[in-house]
Amino acid sequence: MTRTIKFTVNGTAHEHPVEPRLLLADFLRHTLGLTGTHVGCEHGVCGACTILLDGDSVRACLMFAVQVDGCVVETVESLGRIGKLNPLQEAFHTHHALQCGFCTPGMLMTATDLLKKYPLATDDEIREGLSGNLCRCTGYEHIVAAVRAVKESAK
Ligand code: FES
Ligand code: FES
Repeated sequence: MTRTIKFTVNGTAHEHPVEPRLLLADFLRHTLGLTGTHVGCEHGVCGACTILLDGDSVRACLMFAVQVDGCVVETVESLGRIGKLNPLQEAFHTHHALQCGFCTPGMLMTATDLLKKYPLATDDEIREGLSGNLCRCTGYEHIVAAVRAVKESAK
């Protein structure tokens, strides 16, 4: 049994039949081909699957695809692309804020939400805001530096 849902992803309207048990993360990756959303723990701990849902950061592994019916979804692919990175992606590059890159999409989406809601975030607030995202390569200092740089450049 499927249910047809309508939603917007990265500015494009979609209408798809989905099985009620299909995870949003799997739907984004396997049905829509948006593989920038990574899946690590699959139970809400690592943050690799973080996307924006109606402007708020959420874990795509903790939601079913049917739950985005009528919603606006933004994935890491919405930020920029090779040759045209957005300021946050540029800052990650400049400050060496990624190593293997597995956590990077989730970090970027969480930081996007953080900077939108707290454009004057202190270092402590940046650390707190990113605390739900795990980096296996432990590059946290560089990630904080990248987010701080974007904040400073926006002043
Ligand atoms: S894969 Fe979703 S929080 Fe880890
Ligand atoms: S850069 Fe490797 S997990 Fe964060």
